Amino acid sequence: MSNNTRENFGSKLGAVLAAAGSAVGLGNIWRFPIETGQNGGAAFILIYIGCVLLLGIPIMMSEFLIGRHTQANTAGAYRVLAPGTPWRWVGRLGVLSGFVILSYYSVVAGWTAEYTVLAIGNHFDGKTAADFPAIFAKFVSNPWKSVLWMLGFLMATHFVVIRGVKSGIEKFSKLMMPALFVIMLVLTICSVMLPGSSEGLEFLFRPDFSKITGSVVLSAMGQAFFSLSLGLGCLCTYASYFSKETNIGKTALNVAVIDTMVAIMSGLIIFPAVFNAGYTLDSGDIGPSLLFITMPNVFGQAFGGVPALAYGVSVLFYFLLVLAALTSTISMHEVVTAYVSEEFNTTRRKAALIVTLACSIVGVVCALSFGPFDGVRIFGMSIFDFFDYVASNIMLPLGGMLIAVFAGWYLDKKLVRDEITNRGTLRASYLRLVIFILRYIAPVAIGLILLGQLGVFR
Ligand code: TRP
Repeated sequence: MSNNTRENFGSKLGAVLAAAGSAVGLGNIWRFPIETGQNGGAAFILIYIGCVLLLGIPIMMSEFLIGRHTQANTAGAYRVLAPGTPWRWVGRLGVLSGFVILSYYSVVAGWTAEYTVLAIGNHFDGKTAADFPAIFAKFVSNPWKSVLWMLGFLMATHFVVIRGVKSGIEKFSKLMMPALFVIMLVLTICSVMLPGSSEGLEFLFRPDFSKITGSVVLSAMGQAFFSLSLGLGCLCTYASYFSKETNIGKTALNVAVIDTMVAIMSGLIIFPAVFNAGYTLDSGDIGPSLLFITMPNVFGQAFGGVPALAYGVSVLFYFLLVLAALTSTISMHEVVTAYVSEEFNTTRRKAALIVTLACSIVGVVCALSFGPFDGVRIFGMSIFDFFDYVASNIMLPLGGMLIAVFAGWYLDKKLVRDEITNRGTLRASYLRLVIFILRYIAPVAIGLILLGQLGVFR
């Protein structure tokens, strides 16, 4: 490991925006509205926010302090902090999860690129609700198209990653995050001004506590993990490029606030538009196809009176998805690239190429699982669904729990304190609370998610 040749983020803002770029992605704009829709709206959001504050921020701080202290890739970090112990498997598990998620995430990211092109070509115009499911089904089952888009997306990711930390990842995030925010703001205003938006707003903001069940709580925790990019050492890897002056607590808070704001703005864009278009939430309109079947129809219906507006809004929307997905795929790619390059002593370029090629192979298999490999079932799931299930429902929570235990129990308290207070130069009155959460609350709570996901309570 050659620490002296390692790059750092050039500025604190750059570090925050890169980490926020990782966090903000399809998890916010695709998964959050689906989960909110399926889990009862405002009450789910309140629990979600509780999970972000109580579990998300302390675990994010752990990832940050482990990465910044060791200045190594996530597997190397455990080797440095706990040499000769099985803890290095936590890092390796993270690298493997990053690899798996990147492979199937790139498939959906590819869909967003295809839909951006469809939107630009005005292909949604004049279509009715009945047409969109067929358009989507035809697209995802076309092996060439979805594979090519997936590969294209991985290539774009590759090119940003090989440019390095400062002139690739940081520069790209600094450009994209503000662009993303502006696009979201425009879309939010358009959607909230629709007639009948109040029904959507009410769904988002008036909690019905009778809807809270064990499984709603479990989904909210799982969503918080996925959305904040926690559990696989992604933010640990990014933090290895933080400078010694970066305030870990404040950065974690900033990233969590940005990520949550984007999730809520996505809700504000999607729900008023969905209600305006006359959809109901229990009819299956809110599901994985939300962005690709429901939304194209929503644009036409909601802004149909003004075709130019419907056109503009749909192009902006899909372009927004592409940007958000790209800053997230970059972060997963970086986890694996940093690992390969540092642990196997190869150049960054070679490491990135190996990662891109390997992901392409697994990605092709995932993409084809909607077409030619449709019949292949693993535990009753398609290949794509199986990867998603194992990675996000098992590997991420497991990784997050182990990270909390590692930071709360294994690491020397002084090391944790020094990192969080920047060697005593910052006041951090929350330190004891954070350590308490890492030691007791997070392992128990996440242990419950895990058992819940595995069906123990069913
Ligand atoms: N958080 C991203 C999203 O919301 C996805 C992501 C990027 C991720 N890196 C991660 C998820 C690491 C889990 C772990 O889309």
